[in-house]
Amino acid sequence: MDPNYYENEDNVRKYTRFTPAHDGALLVDALSAQLPPDATILELGMGPGKDFKQLSRDFRVTGSDFSQLFLDLYRQQDPSADLLRLDARTLDTERTFDAIYSNKALIHMSADELQQSFARQHAVLNDHGLILHSFWYGDGEDVFNDVTLAYRNEAGLTAMLADAFDILTLERHAKMADGDSIYVLARKK
Ligand SMILES: C[S@@+](CC[C@H](N)C(=O)[O-])C[C@H]1O[C@@H](n2cnc3c(N)ncnc32)[C@H](O)[C@@H]1O
Repeated sequence: MDPNYYENEDNVRKYTRFTPAHDGALLVDALSAQLPPDATILELGMGPGKDFKQLSRDFRVTGSDFSQLFLDLYRQQDPSADLLRLDARTLDTERTFDAIYSNKALIHMSADELQQSFARQHAVLNDHGLILHSFWYGDGEDVFNDVTLAYRNEAGLTAMLADAFDILTLERHAKMADGDSIYVLARKK
């Protein structure tokens, strides 16, 4: 994808107005059910921060994004939020977390970048830490407005994760329409 796509104010504004048919509640609930109340969570690619807000009700959450614009916008509504500018491909941080969460934020990565991100996530997680990530479901890639979207499915995610994570749930769900998305919940081996 054009790495500057979400560094553009019009694109950020456009995305902030976008309201999917289904919010992230199903994903937030699936992760929350597996975590003790004092757990720490890192969200990748938080965008406007709707899921960050939901997760923050019950957990100590650190929000992150590659785009400084999204972080600045969120900071305006919550000056005390714990936010980091992070590229999910490299996760250049010394901090560690009990869980890492994303909703349609790892969808712009090539297979190699995603595999590298999973390796960094493994390093950034505490022992037995959890990941939950949601992707568009399918095969291959599309390009919309210069933004690449990579589709993921059960076989591809299993192949990337199985060596380093125990997969707990790999399930299709809806963002705009039934089955258009897939999420994986997995525990660090
Ligand atoms: C489709 S939006 C999803 C935003 C939010 N998670 C949601 O559900 O509304 C993709 C988000 O991922 C961020 N993003 C894209 N590539 C990224 C990367 N390599 N590292 C971190 N964030 C990234 C974008 O800036 C944007 O906020």
